[in-house]
Amino acid sequence: MTLTEPTPTHADAGVDALFAPTELAGIALGNAFAMAPMTRFRSPGGVPGPDVAAYYRRRAAGGVGLIITEGILVDHPSAGAEDAAPRLERPAAEAGWRIVADQVHAAGSKIIAQLWHQGSEREGFDGGVAWTPSGVREDGSPAGRAATIADLDELISRYAAAAGAARRAGFDGVEVHAAHGYLLDEFLWRATNRRTDRYGGTPRNRARLVAEIVAAVRAEVGAGFPVGLRFSQFKERDFDAVIADHPDELAALLTPAVEAGVTLLHASARRFWRPAFDGSPRTLAGWGRELTGLPAIAVGSFGLSAASLADPERSLAAVARLREAGEFDALALGRPLLANPCWVNHVRRGELGALIDYSKEQEEVFA
Ligand SMILES: Cc1cc2nc3c(=O)[nH]c(=O)nc-3n(C[C@H](O)[C@H](O)[C@H](O)COP(=O)(O)O)c2cc1C
Repeated sequence: MTLTEPTPTHADAGVDALFAPTELAGIALGNAFAMAPMTRFRSPGGVPGPDVAAYYRRRAAGGVGLIITEGILVDHPSAGAEDAAPRLERPAAEAGWRIVADQVHAAGSKIIAQLWHQGSEREGFDGGVAWTPSGVREDGSPAGRAATIADLDELISRYAAAAGAARRAGFDGVEVHAAHGYLLDEFLWRATNRRTDRYGGTPRNRARLVAEIVAAVRAEVGAGFPVGLRFSQFKERDFDAVIADHPDELAALLTPAVEAGVTLLHASARRFWRPAFDGSPRTLAGWGRELTGLPAIAVGSFGLSAASLADPERSLAAVARLREAGEFDALALGRPLLANPCWVNHVRRGELGALIDYSKEQEEVFA
């Protein structure tokens, strides 16, 4: 087979199902592919402009069923510096996102807003002070200041306000970003959460802030509005770190958020097909699904090159088999969509020769 010929895996019914309409946490999607959240820093003053709308519209028109936006900072000085990361609660930002959502919908896709607080990663920019669980990094070195209970109450209300703005702006749901070593993950992670109050210690206590945020978001957006939770084992600054040593611990970390109103999981892994724990082939998304009964999005290193689609572990047929085995409901792609806004349409048509392989420099381009 040359790369320009239609891939024979399309003869596979499971592969066809990846490209068929599906439903995810109550959201009707054209297919099972999602765009992963990718920070772009193109929204000066927190306001996404026409270039941001065009960027997302292009991916929607390119066939992706669901878009999860780049991390949108909750509007609090501790969440992130005043740079070009987007916000939501400012009227001009909400209006900008309304245009983005309208254009994505007009192009046939759905869009969820990801809500973000940088935690210790906020430190160092514009003299701002980071808020962290315990004022330390995982190695015990200082990191910002430990948030008080009053601070946490303030943050909870910011998440709720951002979610309310997302709903008004026309988003199809919100996703709470609790992955990759940012604030909420720093609460989930034993190494950075050394608190002795009700927000630290047991897995249930470490999960308490996430659950209280979800409860406040749910109260703000009402029943029926999709609320997702993105979680990961790895941290951007430590790929081997974990929040859960075994599935029971993962269950204890996820359950409070589910009880508080999460309806969709997004399990971020470096390689989506790899087993999450010893002793079972189950992936992180698969465990999330099994432990909570919720639908899950998987993500991580799918489709980075056309050739990788011929790898037996990462082919469309392999993806279809994992989906049929209950590992995930939808699969997100990040980096492949930077240079290939039409990735889904190309792959659906078997036009693998049209795909541009991912390279790091593509992260600097915004089109
Ligand atoms: C440029 C860039 C920015 C990212 N920004 C975010 C973000 O804002 N929020 C988030 O949860 N993940 C973020 N990620 C992680 C991606 O969502 C995704 O999990 C990761 O790139 C792995 O998927 P991929 O192999 O399909 O790219 C970012 C990744 C990249 C490459």
